[in-house]
Amino acid sequence: MKLLIKNGHVLNPATNLDRVMDILIEDGKVKTLKQSITNEECDRVIDANGLYVMPGFIDLHVHLREPGFEYKETIESGAKAAATGGFTSICPMPNTKPSTDCREMVELVMDKANKESVVHILPIGAITTNQEGSQLSDFKGMKEAGIVALSEDGKSVMDAALFMRGMQAAKKLNLPIFSHCEDKSLVGKGVMNAGKKAKEFGLEGICNAVEDVIVARDILIAKEPGCTLHLCHCSTKDSVTLVKMAKEMGLSVTAEVCPHHFSMSEDDITEDHGRFKMNPPLRKKEDVEALKKGLRDGIMDVIATDHAPHGQEEKNQSMAKAPFGIVGLETAFALTMTELVKKGYLTPMQMVEKLSYNPAKVLGIDKGNIDEGKVADIVIADFDREYQIDAKKFASKGKNTPFDGKMVTGQVVTTIVSGEVVYEN
Ligand code: DOR
Ligand code: ZN
Ligand code: ZN
Repeated sequence: MKLLIKNGHVLNPATNLDRVMDILIEDGKVKTLKQSITNEECDRVIDANGLYVMPGFIDLHVHLREPGFEYKETIESGAKAAATGGFTSICPMPNTKPSTDCREMVELVMDKANKESVVHILPIGAITTNQEGSQLSDFKGMKEAGIVALSEDGKSVMDAALFMRGMQAAKKLNLPIFSHCEDKSLVGKGVMNAGKKAKEFGLEGICNAVEDVIVARDILIAKEPGCTLHLCHCSTKDSVTLVKMAKEMGLSVTAEVCPHHFSMSEDDITEDHGRFKMNPPLRKKEDVEALKKGLRDGIMDVIATDHAPHGQEEKNQSMAKAPFGIVGLETAFALTMTELVKKGYLTPMQMVEKLSYNPAKVLGIDKGNIDEGKVADIVIADFDREYQIDAKKFASKGKNTPFDGKMVTGQVVTTIVSGEVVYEN
């Protein structure tokens, strides 16, 4: 199979390439990258004139719900949603049922992924058995079966000594730790940001300190083992300050921001409805501004979705009753374009860094780079196409998003995984 992408504007941070080029793909890899390649002997030519061509996006943070909650999402449906969103690799979190906490479970996920997924699945293993926080899981067995990172996502490992031992073991295996930062004692029964809206609705709040104290703790715990610490879904201004400090200290700390946290503040919550409920919650305007500047200034490295599909009835409830989480795979690129690129916070090249190049670096994998000899994981997008988000049309089983109906600019046109077209619009 020979595929030729013609006249696309290639944005490739790894080689600082920012110009119109042709790309010839053969046997799943980029064979030739140059200014003009003739069409001869190609099975297919894609005309990318007027479009941007980027290394496929890599989402370090998704929830695929299989096994255990297949009515919310499966590996197959989540992978289709990923392809629709321009993601060619996604990292599912281990909070399934049973959780991904041993070699056999990783093998099961990998096996399903090989058979049913249109994108690369790079699983994340649980730090403790059944994510119960009492005993470290089998890191080595899971690594041999294919995990790329460790996380307790959904909660923090509250036992600091156990977490430190986990960091030491992770360092030996060269596995990064992805931290969901939430102090269990501080969060109490909070369901949304501790602020004016929580007061208005008469609901318990989640204060910034719930996140900040664990961000600080985890940075300081990671210091000694020297383990790579990746901070998930940072939502507060002090998280940005702490990440900056960690980087200045020379620590191997990286951080992600989710599109919902830079696109909406608590002020955008128009009613007491579950579609606005996620963890961490939508914060104050000053937090949103700090996150956007943190991304702009290179303090925050990665944009990840925390794609968290749930059933319609579950989410169609009040803040107090609905589960935490919104879907994100099919809106991430458009929200990044609309809120960050079009508003001048990120250059297009920086956007590709946050969505592809940096995520690959966090994992230490040879992806996120369009170059001769590299795997042909590629996304082609129209940066100026305007459209209205329509959750009914999502490939994901989850339709739970507060962005339904929003006008956005920027649309994925083609997604290519290992040289195969897996999505076209
Ligand atoms: O909003 C969230 N949803 N935050 C989490 O930490 C977990 C996730 C889920 O699994 O639904
Ligand atoms: Zn989380
Ligand atoms: Zn999550």
